[in-house]
Amino acid sequence: MKIKFLLMLTSFVFFLNACSKDGNEAAANLETPVANAPKEVNDNGFKAKWNYVSQSKSYLLDVSTTENFAAFVPNYNAKEVTDLNEVVVGLTGGTQYYYRVRAKNETQISDYSNVISVVTTGSSGIPEDPTFLKVKTNKLANPFFVGMAVKASQLTGGSPYDIILKNEFSSISAEYEMKMDPISTASGVYNWTAADKIVTYGNSNGINVHGHALVWHNAVPAWLKDFSGTDAEFALEVKKYITAVVTHYAGKVKSWDVVNEAVDDNGSMRNTLFLNRMGPNYIKDCFQWARNAANAAGDTNLLLFYNDYATSTNMAKQDKVFSIVDDLKAGNLIDGLGFQMHNKYLTPTKAQIETDINRAVAKGLKIHVSELDIQVNPSNDISTFTNERRLAQKEKYKEMVQLYNALPAANKYALTIWGMRDNDSWIPYSTELNHTGNDWPLLYDSNFAVKSSHTGFLEGLD
Ligand code: XIL
Repeated sequence: MKIKFLLMLTSFVFFLNACSKDGNEAAANLETPVANAPKEVNDNGFKAKWNYVSQSKSYLLDVSTTENFAAFVPNYNAKEVTDLNEVVVGLTGGTQYYYRVRAKNETQISDYSNVISVVTTGSSGIPEDPTFLKVKTNKLANPFFVGMAVKASQLTGGSPYDIILKNEFSSISAEYEMKMDPISTASGVYNWTAADKIVTYGNSNGINVHGHALVWHNAVPAWLKDFSGTDAEFALEVKKYITAVVTHYAGKVKSWDVVNEAVDDNGSMRNTLFLNRMGPNYIKDCFQWARNAANAAGDTNLLLFYNDYATSTNMAKQDKVFSIVDDLKAGNLIDGLGFQMHNKYLTPTKAQIETDINRAVAKGLKIHVSELDIQVNPSNDISTFTNERRLAQKEKYKEMVQLYNALPAANKYALTIWGMRDNDSWIPYSTELNHTGNDWPLLYDSNFAVKSSHTGFLEGLD
C-alpha cells in the first residue's frame, strides 16, 4: 500500500516536472555550455570540445578568426553538432581562430559558451616585415633607443651581426665585458681591452652606449672576494673601481647601471658581499661615487640607473626597489630605473608591467627596459619552436613595445634586447633560471633571419 502511494507520488512529481519543461517559460532554463580547450590541433584544423548540457539534443558551433565573431569561418556559423566535440577542418596554417557553442533542444537555444582561442600549427606563409627597428622607431614623435646586448667578439666589421646591429639598433649594452670581474684584474689594475672595443664601436658608429654594470654580486673578481683588508678598506676598493671606470668612460658612455640586482626575491636586501662588507648604505655610496667621478671628469650629464629583474610579478621585491629609489632620489642620485624584463610568453601580464613601470614614471625617472627577452619554453614542454608559441611570443613583444612607446617622452630612454639570435641567448644556459631546455627568446633565428617577434616589435610601434 505504502509502496503504491510512493509510486503514485513520484509519477505525479515527474509529471509536474515534465510540464514545467514545456513551452517558452522553460527556454531560459537550458544551461549555457562550457567550451573546453581544443585537441589535435594541426595545420588545417583542430577538435573543438565542450561539456554536456542536460536536456539538450544538439549544439551550435561557431568558429571565427575574430574574438567578437564579427564573421564566421564558412560552414561554421551555428553548425549543428550532436556530439560533445567536432573536428573543424579546412583552416589555414599558423592562424588564430576562436570558437564557442550554444546548446539546443527542439524549441530552445542556450546562451553562448565561453570563447576558446586556438592557433593552427604550421607556417602562416605571411612574410615578416623587413623594416629596420631603429628606422621605424626614429620616425616616432617621441623616439627612444633600441638597444642590443653585445659581446666584443661579435663586433667584427662586415659580419652579418655587425650589419644588422648597425642597421637596426641605436644603443648597445655589454652583455658581460663591462662588469667588474672582467675589467678589474687586481686592486687598481684594469683590463680595458674588450670593454674599450665595445665603447669605441658604439662611439664611432653613432650608437648610444649604456654601461652595464658597475656593481653586481654575480661578477665580483676573485681578488675582491678574497680581499683580506678591513671593511673600510673594502669600501675604498669599490670606490676606487667605480671612480676608475666612470672616469675612463666619461663622455663616452651615456648611462651606467650603478648597482644591479641588490634586492632579493623575498623582498629584502640581497645578502651579497657588498651588503656584508659595506652595510645597507652601500647602494647610496656607489651612486655618490659614480656621480662624483663623472662630475670630476666634466661629464655632468651621465645618467645613473638602478637595475633589477622580476619586479612586475613580485610585489615585495617591487616595493623594496622603490624604497631604494626613494632613498636615492632624496639624495638626487638616481636618473633612471632599469627593468630587466627576462619575461615569458604568458607572464608578466600587461597590467603587471604597467603598474611597475608607472611607479617609476610617477617618480620622474627615465625607464630602461634593459634586458628584454621572452621565453617560449619555460616549462620545457616543447622540443621545437611551435607556431603557437611563435605567435604568442610575437604578441608579447608587441605588447611590451606598445606600452613602452606609450610612456611620456621625458621618461623614455631605451628598450634593449638581450642578445641577437636565439642561439646567442643566455636563457637556455642559465643555471639560475632553472631552465635547461631549448628556448627561442629573441628577434632573430640562428641564421640571422627576422622572426615574428621582430614583426611584433615593429607592430608595437604603430
Ligand atoms: C648575463 C649574460 O647574458 C651572460 O652572458 C653572462 O655570462 C652572465 O650575465 N641579469 C643581468 C645580466 O643583469 O647582466 C645577465 O647577463 C643576465 C641576468
